[in-house]
Amino acid sequence: MSDIISIAIDGPSGAGKSSLARRCAAAFGILYADTGAIYRTVGLAAVRAGIDRKDENAVAGLLPTLQIEMKYGSDGEQRMYLNGEDVSEAIRMPEISIAASDVSALPIVRQFLLEMQRSLARTQSVLMDGRDIGTVVLPDADLKVFLTASAEERARRRVLQLQEKGVIEDYDQVLKEIRYRDEQDMNRETAPLKRAEDAVLLDTTELSYDESFAALSQLILERFCIRPLAD
Ligand code: DC
Repeated sequence: MSDIISIAIDGPSGAGKSSLARRCAAAFGILYADTGAIYRTVGLAAVRAGIDRKDENAVAGLLPTLQIEMKYGSDGEQRMYLNGEDVSEAIRMPEISIAASDVSALPIVRQFLLEMQRSLARTQSVLMDGRDIGTVVLPDADLKVFLTASAEERARRRVLQLQEKGVIEDYDQVLKEIRYRDEQDMNRETAPLKRAEDAVLLDTTELSYDESFAALSQLILERFCIRPLAD
């Protein structure tokens, strides 16, 4: 194995992937790449342009006008820029989640973003999370994890997470949106959400956040024989 390692974490929305992946990457001193944020940036651009997000021609016309950049702040946090504007907060709004899922089903969008994701893993160790990292983006990743939890548990966690940000959302509505995204992300023709054959399954339905973190860290520890710098 080379000095550069790659870890692919895939799974459905709201399984806790991002926060666990971010914490694990920091603990092991590896760059964290949240690929959902890139799709969200395209989703935001489509919403702002007022185009039909499922119309491939309309979205194809938009893509060449977009300058999407992923940068890391001095605190190590990934930030997204759309045509020079920092949109890291704007892309987290619930309506952008649906828009991101819509545009991510389009092959032209996936193709447009593929190289950006792959190039990150060429020069440095990376822990990348998304839907198709282990199957399409980094098929040769050194460790692949499929992180999931039941839709009900994911909805419960999302409501709590939004509450902490002062956003009150109805549980049934959140569950409906999670199911909509699951359905769309798993059934699209291009790069659907699915577990890679060689991915380790980690179901966190019955696990607390700290237990999930411990389980993920354990997988990394076993695979690479590296110890966390801190947790
Ligand atoms: O992980 P997230 O919820 O921020 O992702 C937003 C949407 O982007 C999600 O509905 C599916 C899509 N996505 C994708 O298709 N492929 C990825 N690698 C990451 C996200």
